[in-house]
Amino acid sequence: MPYVGGVRIAVCPGSFDPITNGHVDVVRRALTMFDEVVVAVATNAAKEALLSAQVRAAVAAEAVAGLPGARVALVPGLLADFLREVGACAVVKGIRGASDVDAEVPMALMNRYLSGVETVFVAGDQSMAHIASSMVKDVARHGGRIDDLVPAPVVPVVRAALARREEGRPEVGRSETGQDGERP
Ligand code: PNS
Repeated sequence: MPYVGGVRIAVCPGSFDPITNGHVDVVRRALTMFDEVVVAVATNAAKEALLSAQVRAAVAAEAVAGLPGARVALVPGLLADFLREVGACAVVKGIRGASDVDAEVPMALMNRYLSGVETVFVAGDQSMAHIASSMVKDVARHGGRIDDLVPAPVVPVVRAALARREEGRPEVGRSETGQDGERP
């Protein structure tokens, strides 16, 4: 496993569309094993994202702001290239059940083939096993409450993005987070 100045860096990659309490739980668990954890916001070619990558990264940064050693970065291309760039010694992925294993193992094998970096699977908190970004969006789309499923900054961002989509309005950038001006 490569080291950067003796610091063990792990990468938690994902679409984070949006980041959930389950993701934050996995980042917290990864920080018990590694010195630094990079929450890597990437594009999954098989999924159509609700939020832009920039917005996903901005809300993820707010969500992990209270976790020393965690930071957020955008992955512009291949995760394997990003792993090399940051000097990661491991990828960490959360597992809720068997279907996650089925989906994650092929990615772990491809990432190891491309970069030599191993993937560590972490069992997430059982009380969060029902939380998935896709279901969070579906619950919100139908007017359900998502406040207990995602970090607080995520709630208005998802609601605003869904409202815009419903109205057929194009997605906006970082203003969704309220960080560069008024919240739409
Ligand atoms: O949260 P997800 O959608 O399960 O995360 C999958 C993700 C985004 C980590 C994966 O699709 C990815 O790594 N995308 C970046 C491009 C890449 O490296 N593709 C090959 C992955 S084996």
